[in-house]
Amino acid sequence: MYCKTMSLTHVFLFASFGTLASLVMSRTFHDTAIVDKHEQWMVDYGRKYDNNLEKEKRLDIFMENLEYIESFNNVGNKSFKLGLNEFADMTHDEFIAAHTGYKMLDKSKMSKSTSFLYENFSDMPSSLNWNDRGAVTPVKDQSNCGSCWAFSSVAAVEGIIKIKTGKLISLSEQQLLDCSTNGGNEGCGGGWMTSAFKYIIQNRGISREESYLYKAEQGTCDMKKQMNKAVTITGYETVPENDEKALLKAVANQPVSVGIDGSGRDFMFFKGGGVFTGECGNDQNHAVTIVGYGRSEEGLDYWVVKNSWGKSWGEKGFMRIQRGAKTTGGLCGIAMEASYPVA
Ligand SMILES: *[C@@H]1O[C@H](CO)[C@@H](O)[C@H](O)[C@H]1NC(C)=O
Ligand SMILES: *[C@@H]1O[C@H](CO)[C@@H](O)[C@H](O)[C@H]1NC(C)=O
Repeated sequence: MYCKTMSLTHVFLFASFGTLASLVMSRTFHDTAIVDKHEQWMVDYGRKYDNNLEKEKRLDIFMENLEYIESFNNVGNKSFKLGLNEFADMTHDEFIAAHTGYKMLDKSKMSKSTSFLYENFSDMPSSLNWNDRGAVTPVKDQSNCGSCWAFSSVAAVEGIIKIKTGKLISLSEQQLLDCSTNGGNEGCGGGWMTSAFKYIIQNRGISREESYLYKAEQGTCDMKKQMNKAVTITGYETVPENDEKALLKAVANQPVSVGIDGSGRDFMFFKGGGVFTGECGNDQNHAVTIVGYGRSEEGLDYWVVKNSWGKSWGEKGFMRIQRGAKTTGGLCGIAMEASYPVA
């Protein structure tokens, strides 16, 4: 399941039990530059802490992350850079818990199609970005909610609707959180893009973003808003698995939803400046949408991925990630579970 989560509140509570002694000890060693950086970061990201103990604890984590980021960038043997973002005061374990959680991978919930619409398609341009063709809405932010699956499916639907009708309409993730409880979907607890597509087909549509606003928590399905439909899809298909060539055929035709391993520390602090080349595994714990592909100046083939972690992450919310890496299922397992809506 994508984005299976633990509540961040629990994570923070848990983290607060760190020993007081070590905090008091470490306090004196924070140099003012780091304290200032943390203060500035708190302003930039609107972060507030309940008490000074929590603030000290978060400062320690911030400092550790900053050190990791700076040493990664100083080694400089990767094409991409890391940078501070909204996750900068979370430990890697907390980040994993809030964005990946228990890693319960239940393949039986993922329904695969036997047909592949683009099987015989061979007219792929050498590069393509659905952003440039106006088929991608601005990057959104799932916040502290394991709703990546809703954002991934909505972005794919927004794409195919623009391609088919010429209209780019931002659609509602909240409707999926509240109403698409079919097929193993659990709101902020994680879900599947294929189940979300199924729901949209059965509901005969999905509402606009502004008529069913995002709250980053699951509520009861609003029947009135659910019926206020803007667009619909007629079906969905899955791309043959672990096949980046097949995936290319699909992405050449429309944005495609994919599961990905987004739990790595380098993924967490990815800042761009080049193509992401790892480290990552291939546990499908996050979901994103592939909105293009190309080749970098250094000759690296890449996918363009739209994430849902706000614009401060990556390249204004996007990531160029290596395509054709010699790992089964593609880098971070990007080609393991890909699907797209049909309209
Ligand atoms: C980059 O440097 C790190 C640390 O020195 C090293 O572990 C890693 O293997 C290097 N990677 C490449 C691709 O050279
Ligand atoms: C692809 O071509 C084969 C052989 O002509 C045909 O049997 C198959 O139905 C085609 N697939 C699609 C999705 O059109």
